[in-house]
Amino acid sequence: MPDPIQLFKPFICDEAIAATSDVLRSGWIGLGPRTEAFERAFADWLGARHAVATNSATAALRIALAAHGIGPGDEVITTPLTFVSTSHVIHYVGAEPVFCDVDAQTMNLDLGRAAELVGPRTRALIAVHYGGNPLDLVELRAFAAKHHLIVIDDAAHACGARFRGERVGAAGTACFSFHAVKNLPIGDGGMLVTDDAAVADRARRLRWMGIDRSTYARNGGSYQWEYDVPELGFKEHMNDIAAAIGLAQLPHVDAWNAKRREISARYVAAIADRDPTRARPVACTPGAESARHLCALLVADRDAVAERLRADGIGTGVHYKPNHLYAPYLAARRGPLPVAEAAWRKLISLPLHLLLSEADVGRVCDAIRRATGA
Ligand SMILES: Cc1ncc(COP(=O)(O)O)c(C=O)c1O
Repeated sequence: MPDPIQLFKPFICDEAIAATSDVLRSGWIGLGPRTEAFERAFADWLGARHAVATNSATAALRIALAAHGIGPGDEVITTPLTFVSTSHVIHYVGAEPVFCDVDAQTMNLDLGRAAELVGPRTRALIAVHYGGNPLDLVELRAFAAKHHLIVIDDAAHACGARFRGERVGAAGTACFSFHAVKNLPIGDGGMLVTDDAAVADRARRLRWMGIDRSTYARNGGSYQWEYDVPELGFKEHMNDIAAAIGLAQLPHVDAWNAKRREISARYVAAIADRDPTRARPVACTPGAESARHLCALLVADRDAVAERLRADGIGTGVHYKPNHLYAPYLAARRGPLPVAEAAWRKLISLPLHLLLSEADVGRVCDAIRRATGA
């Protein structure tokens, strides 16, 4: 039996490996010059105005809510079909999540249903771009403007994704993940990007204990100990080791995403002749270019399909069990969720990473055909 094929595997380029030893020898490994350089490079690449680097996307999302003034008494509309970070951060700031159903094709928030959930306490919406497939950004902004809502993009899957040519996160406030298996892996890390200078300033303080100046900024030339602490913050900044890896990985992301799209297209072609009630891909929004963090399919008898693939040495995943089915969210306010509740039992994610060989991709294609056959 050939080696098992993993669902995800991180890819670290040679330049990042070399940059890691450089930074370790540099005499500065905390929050410092490389973190600032990564923030600038990421903002330029994305076309965003401000970037604030954190130690995870979870931290970036919580800080984004806080920096936008979301707190106790507020409600935030979001999708149940996400990693629990998206929902947890709403609680972390003392607000309440309100779950809205998803679109049956894309698994993204169904904005047509979200209007029914807007109430007097609704302040914001967290838009998760499922699997790297962007929501329709024009529709999203129009919806937010109509209902006076702040939009925070949970772009954990969508690093490099575009809608009508514009990168997700280039406008408004968005949070990216550099977790080990994301499209731009650095181990753990996140980036809050925003076009609002006040939000960026507050986020910069909140990620570093509420302190008004970084140790590195204070260290220019002579040692200056003095700083002010205008508010309570958290210890959630990025460090220069992670940033050095990020700086070296960033120039490759567009090419890596193209490779992810190629592999996904092969998997989708392999099931193209299947009856869509038995197997079909999660679709990308028209006009969008996916970052393809996931290649997710909707298949009948999902657990049996996963078991057949496992027997063929192929790892799979489920993204996600809807969050309202977990204990902290059983009582959360929600609309009817028939699509999310039916779809998650069919969702299966196929191996998608940059260390897949041509032969591996062929093996997955053959196995998914066999597993979804009559
Ligand atoms: C949709 C989504 N949001 C947020 C996160 C949190 O990212 P991080 O692990 O960087 O905190 C993840 C991570 O898997 C995610 O998939």
